[in-house]
Amino acid sequence: MEKNIKFPVINLSKLNGEERDQTMALIDDACQNWGFFELVNHGLPYDLMDNVERMTKEHYKKHMEQKFKEMLRSKGLDTLETEVEDVDWESTFYLRHLPQSNLYDIPDMSNEYRTAMKDFGKRVENLAEELLDLLCENLGLEKGYLKKVFHGTKGPTFGTKVSNYPPCPKPEMIKGLRAHTDAGGLILLFQDDKVSGLQLLKDNDWLDVPPLKHSIVINLGDQLEVITNGKYKSVMHRVMTQKEGNRMSIASFYNPGSDAEISPAPSLVVDDKDSKYPSFVFDDYMKLYAGLKFQPKEPRFEAMKNAAVAAELNPVAAVETF
Ligand code: OGA
Ligand code: NI
Repeated sequence: MEKNIKFPVINLSKLNGEERDQTMALIDDACQNWGFFELVNHGLPYDLMDNVERMTKEHYKKHMEQKFKEMLRSKGLDTLETEVEDVDWESTFYLRHLPQSNLYDIPDMSNEYRTAMKDFGKRVENLAEELLDLLCENLGLEKGYLKKVFHGTKGPTFGTKVSNYPPCPKPEMIKGLRAHTDAGGLILLFQDDKVSGLQLLKDNDWLDVPPLKHSIVINLGDQLEVITNGKYKSVMHRVMTQKEGNRMSIASFYNPGSDAEISPAPSLVVDDKDSKYPSFVFDDYMKLYAGLKFQPKEPRFEAMKNAAVAAELNPVAAVETF
């Protein structure tokens, strides 16, 4: 039987017309069966996206490429005789927007680049919040539910990872980014429109997330799987290296605030005893994730469940182990 491998591409502008219901259904299907979808006509201005892309590529050439090459030499990756499984072939830096911006602490960014990234970040944040409400609608949760859960006491954590995946002479020896699920909430990715590399795991096959000019790729992190009690899934993905071309990717992570309390939404839990998912404070999950990112998510959920049980039985000991 031929597999249905048509990656979901969703035209967000159709939410404003008579195809609204079908579009909402496509989003719901993608959240349940792919953990990923690609948005077109999402409202981000194309000229802003073009500027961000141009400046990110210039910034890499000017300030990052040399450092990347030095990293290769220092880690002995310039020869690649055997497969490497504990390092990624990527050059990255992180911008944090919320709860406090660090945009002006990042070295080597031109004023023009900073301004563009600030504008881009704000618009992606708005898109993330719009999407969270679409998910609420599909899940039968009240409007604002997910945003409220993510808020904690200090508001959500929102940041952007700016990456370049430079060409690699032996792509079979190393990944651009090893397979993982994302820990947080919603991830919004502006990826290179020419150089591919991102793949997701679907039904045991790795499928390409196709480059598409001016699109935004969305994927769901572990927190949305927990909150939806597994109705929606965080899905394994990875970045392959390429012999030719430098792949740009700008991934924005809309995550819960550090003290946000995460648990399955009560209306999505049919049988209380039956939920596979734990309840926890987001920061505790992140501490666990830091050491287990490239492992399957299930043991992480299990460990958080056990931590909660330990806390109930023996609160003092449980605090000490964290
Ligand atoms: C990530 C990620 C994909 C990419 O940073 O978690 O999956 O294309 N990035 O950069
Ligand atoms: Ni990821």
